[in-house]
Amino acid sequence: MRSKVVAEILSLASITDNLGTNFIGQRVIYYPRLASTMAAAREEAQRGAAEGTVIVAGEQTAGKGRMERVWLSPRGSIALSVILYPAVPYLSYLIMLASLAVVHSIKAVTGLESQIKWPNDVLIDGKKVCGILIESGVRGGEVAYSILGIGINVNVKVSDFPEILSIATSLSGELGREVSRVDVIRCLLVAMERLYLALPGGTVYEEWRDRLVTLGKKVQVRSGITVLEGIAESVARDGSLLLRQSNGSSTRIVAGDVTLRDFE
Ligand code: BTN
Repeated sequence: MRSKVVAEILSLASITDNLGTNFIGQRVIYYPRLASTMAAAREEAQRGAAEGTVIVAGEQTAGKGRMERVWLSPRGSIALSVILYPAVPYLSYLIMLASLAVVHSIKAVTGLESQIKWPNDVLIDGKKVCGILIESGVRGGEVAYSILGIGINVNVKVSDFPEILSIATSLSGELGREVSRVDVIRCLLVAMERLYLALPGGTVYEEWRDRLVTLGKKVQVRSGITVLEGIAESVARDGSLLLRQSNGSSTRIVAGDVTLRDFE
């Protein structure tokens, strides 16, 4: 039987009161239980929601991961989606700013160091603590909306979930105590706004590149049905990964799943 996690009550006021942002988190829609914050955010965006509107779920019953995978978000985890309307040239930076904001917030609230695995998984000691999914709609060459979906294993007992036990961790598991989800969410929204506003001429790309655990490592990359192996040589400003294969050729990969191979 799955053991109970004593979940702190998330409330609208606890997230929004004196948040100190100008727009991200100034409107939060909270659902105790929801299929997926992505679908709810898309509906809000299509209705013209203000930039920075955030959908938060206490738990998700059909959480959506990258590559059509399922994302587990039981009570005790963070599941939220932020609606943004960036200009097209900034689209590729959203992945970078979201993962950096998560790394900064985990450090600020818990003191734990985390790393980014290309393109945007956040890991602690090689195990995934956060997944990020970005969905954008483009109409007539303009960004109609971008939705940044962030799932963080905060107070989750991963041993209750055999399907992720070997690859995932949680903040409470790392610390041996529960962590305030409200503190993490507030910190995250503030960090996202700071990084988003700094995009023109900012250093988000450099910060993200320098924090990637992937670079210089031997990796296997799955992109659709293609599997490639090589050294993860560099990343470009558009977020793509340059893979150097053993025959000397290099391939630019726009989307995929990376497995680090160095320890094998
Ligand atoms: C991944 O596969 O690593 C991405 C996981 C993204 C999960 C988050 S939780 C909040 C938002 N709502 C969803 O259904 N998915 C994203």
